[in-house]
Amino acid sequence: MISVSNVSMRYGGKILFEDVSTTFQPGRRYGLTGPNGAGKSTFMKLLSGELEPQKGTVVKPKKLGVLKQDQYAFDRFRVIDTVIMGNLPLWTALEERERLYEKPDLTDEDGMRLGELEGVVAEEDGYTAEADAATLLDGLDIPEPLHARKMGELQGGQKVRVLLAQALFGNPAALLLDEPTNYLDLESIHWLQEFLTRYQGTLITISHDRHFLNAVTTHTADIDYQTIITYTGGYDDMVLQKTQVRSRIESENSQREKKIAQLNEFIARFSAGTRASQVMSRKKEVERLQTTELARSNIARPYIKFEMKRPSGKTPLEFKDVVKGYGGHAVIQGFSASLQRGQKIALMGRNGVGKTTLIKALLKNAPGNDDPDVAIDSGAVEWGHEAQVGYFAQDHRGSIQNGTTAEEWLHAWEPQASREEIRGLLGQMLFRGEEGAKPTDALSGGEAARLMFCKLMLQKPNILVFDEPTNHLDLEAINALNVALQKFDGTVLLVTHDEDLLDEVATRIWHFTGDGKIEDFIGPYEEYKTAAVGR
Ligand SMILES: Nc1ncnc2c1ncn2[C@@H]1O[C@H](COP(=O)(O)OP(=O)(O)OP(=O)(O)O)[C@@H](O)[C@H]1O
Ligand SMILES: [Mg+2]
Repeated sequence: MISVSNVSMRYGGKILFEDVSTTFQPGRRYGLTGPNGAGKSTFMKLLSGELEPQKGTVVKPKKLGVLKQDQYAFDRFRVIDTVIMGNLPLWTALEERERLYEKPDLTDEDGMRLGELEGVVAEEDGYTAEADAATLLDGLDIPEPLHARKMGELQGGQKVRVLLAQALFGNPAALLLDEPTNYLDLESIHWLQEFLTRYQGTLITISHDRHFLNAVTTHTADIDYQTIITYTGGYDDMVLQKTQVRSRIESENSQREKKIAQLNEFIARFSAGTRASQVMSRKKEVERLQTTELARSNIARPYIKFEMKRPSGKTPLEFKDVVKGYGGHAVIQGFSASLQRGQKIALMGRNGVGKTTLIKALLKNAPGNDDPDVAIDSGAVEWGHEAQVGYFAQDHRGSIQNGTTAEEWLHAWEPQASREEIRGLLGQMLFRGEEGAKPTDALSGGEAARLMFCKLMLQKPNILVFDEPTNHLDLEAINALNVALQKFDGTVLLVTHDEDLLDEVATRIWHFTGDGKIEDFIGPYEEYKTAAVGR
């Protein structure tokens, strides 16, 4: 069991939650919900012990398995090591032991330290660690040959499996997962659902995917109104019950506002008169009511609108026989196409079929692209007259460097833009007031994505290249993005697993069917599906 007592967290003027007490029981599977920036990842870090609460206490079992929101964090480590890092004390002991053994001559002190380290390794089952990790990986369908590879070489679906193995390493009593379905295709999500419903301990998972939550969770802990309320049932059940709670809170709020208005009226009317003491007490009452700020719902919709500085030529991009592969294996085997201005192309297909690879290959020499991590093996790629590319990478978090603020980072892209313009854009994307001064390191997953949209809205390119933009976004933001992409007059290349986006945005489909093959269909997704049935 995990229990939380009187926990409060706030950053600057923003209260995430105040005085929260709740428990998470074994055998139950909890969804942790709330819009972008509500404090879900923060709360999970409190549960795992990565972060100390500003007030209150958390009691948790000794061994917890954690899957963090940043799935790229382990890219430079080997797969098998990544799993063993699930037991951090063991991993650090193993590392230090290795360093000591590598020294040419050991001092007495080193010898003593080695003795201590051997103790830790033995206690943490270190002698079977590699074998245990390998067994877990095999069970999660990561075959032996991948175990020695770097995490960065794996594709999304495989990465999540390895990170799950890391979380499960050492049989934890509770499993904490932060947005595990990001970067997964539908089949992998179904696999994960199956897997999680069989987990026996306490499961807590953050997700913006309501289908996933409905399939997996038995309870829902929702962050809103500066508190956390636990409902019975999955996401849809929560929404139903929450509407009732919400109308109660909102009527309390409006009663309070009415009360304040009445008191103020009394004060205004009699302040010059003889009822001095009554006016005084009413003033105090107003102060009291006003200082306890009204808890408002944190659900809000950003306003996304993509405009172009100027349109591109009729054929913004043309390419021939593009081949791109890794280590002798051609992922894209000679694909050619010509894009018409205004086309909205959806790239669809399972994890690992080469969608991101093709995008990156095409971005070579793209005007306006600043991602250096692109290349092509052979073929010809030609960007057309006046083409300007705005790129939203799958790992977009990496394109926002740490150590600056949201506002500074954004302004640096267009130094001649006025402060008002920058602030206006930030406000549209829900960074209101002092929120723009937030350090970039602190941005939540969804906030980082919203800041990337700000950059594109500022630069106004005429070709948008989006690689899974809805990962990390909450429902409101996904809807806003959907509308913005529909209304955009330029050309779009969009990788997505989101059925609504496919349905409502795409006017052309590139379906990656595997083995390096890509079907090119001009027309909406609906027609493509019908045509595919006829084949
Ligand atoms: N060190 C910090 N300084 C200032 N603000 C912070 C800091 N750490 C977190 N925040 C803010 O706290 C809020 C909650 O962040 P958190 O990452 O927990 O959100 P989240 O609910 O996980 O959102 P998402 O769905 O986008 O992942 C955000 O507005 C974030 O910017
Ligand atoms: Mg988060």
